[in-house]
Amino acid sequence: MLVLALESSCDETAAAIVRGEPGEPADILASEVASQAEIHRQYGGVVPEVASRNHSLHLRPLVEQATRRAGVGLRDVDLFAATSGPGLASSLLIGATAAKALAVAAGRPFLAINHLEGHLFSPFVDRGRIPPHLALIVSGGHTLLLDVAGASDYRKLGTTRDDAAGEAFDKVAKMLGLPYPGGPEIEKTAAGGRPDAFDFPRSMLRDPGLDFSFSGLKTAVLYTLTDRNPEDGTPLPDDLPDLCASFQQAVIDVLVAKSLRAAKRAGRDTLALSGGVSLNRALREAFAGACRDAGLELLTADPSLCGDNAAMIAFAALLRAHRGHRSALDADIHPNLPLVP
Ligand code: KG4
Ligand code: ZN
Repeated sequence: MLVLALESSCDETAAAIVRGEPGEPADILASEVASQAEIHRQYGGVVPEVASRNHSLHLRPLVEQATRRAGVGLRDVDLFAATSGPGLASSLLIGATAAKALAVAAGRPFLAINHLEGHLFSPFVDRGRIPPHLALIVSGGHTLLLDVAGASDYRKLGTTRDDAAGEAFDKVAKMLGLPYPGGPEIEKTAAGGRPDAFDFPRSMLRDPGLDFSFSGLKTAVLYTLTDRNPEDGTPLPDDLPDLCASFQQAVIDVLVAKSLRAAKRAGRDTLALSGGVSLNRALREAFAGACRDAGLELLTADPSLCGDNAAMIAFAALLRAHRGHRSALDADIHPNLPLVP
């Protein structure tokens, strides 16, 4: 089955063409991404109106690029899929409407996909089958621990009570005067710093539950800034690497500890990491070490599948299509669509 998928939930416009058969590794024939990060950087974050206008500008050339790279025509496509939520309403509308129009024009079915299900299964694209595992999705909008029994059977074990992990990276980066998106900037700056230089809180670690909270950590960074520079609270240049390394370590410690605890409770011996924050090398190394020590198998998504992309949406669509799922052409977008109600 050949799937063409579109992704436009936030500030990345993406189109992908993926071929797959049930239980077989999927073949990514094309995965095109047009990032708007440069455009939104000047505003310090994503501006929804600007994002949707850029999605409509980029989508058509991206689809043409994808079909060219994949060496297929629109008539070869068996199914058209698009992210229908969660995300920015005006951005979701562009991709979903375009995918429906393509489906009508080609006389093929349409399938609406939850963006988070795309992330969830992204570490398994080259395997095809979804084995029982414990999943951690860490993105700009979500921090989710899930017990996954299979492609159609998963339940939420924990989530954030306030900021998502990526959101904390972005907000702390802003406080430190680093550009958007903050995650990669903090990782870069942290490379020259000491992770134990500042003793930031590991929130909710002593709480027996599996929920997260990152707003206290954010406030702790803010207090440290005013403490170090009472005049105007801006970071002292010499402090920056240590602040970034210490903040990053605090986030990592909590994510690792809670994920391992969740795997143990759920009785899973495989842990899968996905989402934009899982690009962070220090985070990957910490998970690799902790999983080795605990005797868990660690699976991470290929870096090209961690940030927002359409190949993961196409793969999630394949898994659903193989089970007979199709969406109506009047299916709506859902900006607050939960992964698990
Ligand atoms: O999955 P994603 O691309 O989009 C959402 O669905 O949100 O995740 C974006 C988030 C942003 O918050 C960004 O700062 C963060 O992922 N991120 C990182 C890194 N690269 C991206 N966070 C930490 N370290 C990184 N290297
Ligand atoms: Zn995402």
